[in-house]
Amino acid sequence: MLLTPVQQTTANPLRREALHAGIVDPGMDSMRLLSETAMRFPEALSFSSGAPHDGTHDLAKLSYHVDRYIAHLREKGVPEQRITRLHFQYGPVNGFIQEEVARMLAKDEDIDVAPEAIMITHGFQEAALVALRGLFRSPDDVLLSVSPAYVGIRGAARMLDIPVKGITEGPAGLEPEAVAAAVRAVRAEGKRPAALYLVPDFSNPSGTVVPLEARRRLLALAAEEGFTILEDNPYGLFASDEERLPTLKSLDTRGDVVYLGSFAKSAFPGARLGYLVGDREVVGEDGARRTLAQELSKAKAMFTVGSSSLSQAAIGGILVDAGHDLRSATRDLAAVYQERLAATLDALAEHFPPERYAEHGVRWNRPRGGFFLVVEVPFEADLVAMERSARDYAVSWAPMSMFHLEGGGERALRLGFSNLTPAAIREGIARLARFIEDESTSTPEATS
Ligand SMILES: Cc1ncc(COP(=O)(O)O)c(C=O)c1O
Repeated sequence: MLLTPVQQTTANPLRREALHAGIVDPGMDSMRLLSETAMRFPEALSFSSGAPHDGTHDLAKLSYHVDRYIAHLREKGVPEQRITRLHFQYGPVNGFIQEEVARMLAKDEDIDVAPEAIMITHGFQEAALVALRGLFRSPDDVLLSVSPAYVGIRGAARMLDIPVKGITEGPAGLEPEAVAAAVRAVRAEGKRPAALYLVPDFSNPSGTVVPLEARRRLLALAAEEGFTILEDNPYGLFASDEERLPTLKSLDTRGDVVYLGSFAKSAFPGARLGYLVGDREVVGEDGARRTLAQELSKAKAMFTVGSSSLSQAAIGGILVDAGHDLRSATRDLAAVYQERLAATLDALAEHFPPERYAEHGVRWNRPRGGFFLVVEVPFEADLVAMERSARDYAVSWAPMSMFHLEGGGERALRLGFSNLTPAAIREGIARLARFIEDESTSTPEATS
């Protein structure tokens, strides 16, 4: 829905500058502007977002999933009155499907944690807010983040006034040496690197994968330097068996990793369901020990009171139906995404053959999975250029500069191919190629 300015005038309008810096910051509005621009040109083929494939959604399945979960509780012998209360009443702050999620994590990711170490959240986004609120105590606590980064983490930190230091990734994602240098730089300013955020598997926006050895070194660095790793992994589930790498959380023996999960891509984003895994023990002054997830429930209680019982039941039903093995249950979906990635790469290669590189100056990375790839172009690819592309060439994309935390990415764009059929992808890349060629020839310094 477009945010249309209101016509009505009030006698005493509030000045926007009087609101929190996170609301005033134009950077916080970039995703909305991007989707609004894409929506204003409905005939444009959209590579702007990372929306999951919606071809398999079926309304009849909504109630089926909920019923499946209720049936599961009955099979377990849970009394009818308790099942009814669970769905209609205020429920436990940390949720009621932790056992299902723990079984899923064991099967899908070799992550072995107790249900008490899991908090069910309102998507990844709430998991990030809760983790940041709990782990950041002083204004001198800094979040280290891979850059370019998913806008959700930068926004969550901004809304909580948490300073972020971006660490520019390489072709193989976040490099441990760069993280060590950032830790030193933060300490040299008298500040504390409290946590490090990354998406090790097929990152958004760049599609990079952190190699196994670097994962081990990042864990060793976290242990040495005493920071928490915030691992965000919505795309790893779709990796082929050959590409699959262990998550940092599955390699973590000390509880240094807080794993921020989402059901947006593995189930459906409308459920707005995710989870936080925090198994590190927290010791109180009275000597009582709780998991970090239990301790952080105080933050969740104040953000959202609890997660929707209907969404938990729907996701619980999906997990039960899948035998808690979402990886196997989503094999067909993973094949759909692989096909779309291949279609995007093939179409790019067809329109920008390497022998003509000097002429077009266009290059792109070749991820092995995920929903995104990055195309470098010889002109400024900002929101204004994106609007031209959507209006005149009927194809939209996302400017990479929106994801860079320390500047950069001005001449690059992100292509999200997850919700386009291969035929639409071929047509979309043909339109994009015309746009890129026209922009390149109309930008004087483009070929320099
Ligand atoms: C890197 C990353 N993390 C998390 C998410 C999902 O977040 P949520 O569960 O809040 O929808 C996305 C979706 O685009 C993403 O790209």
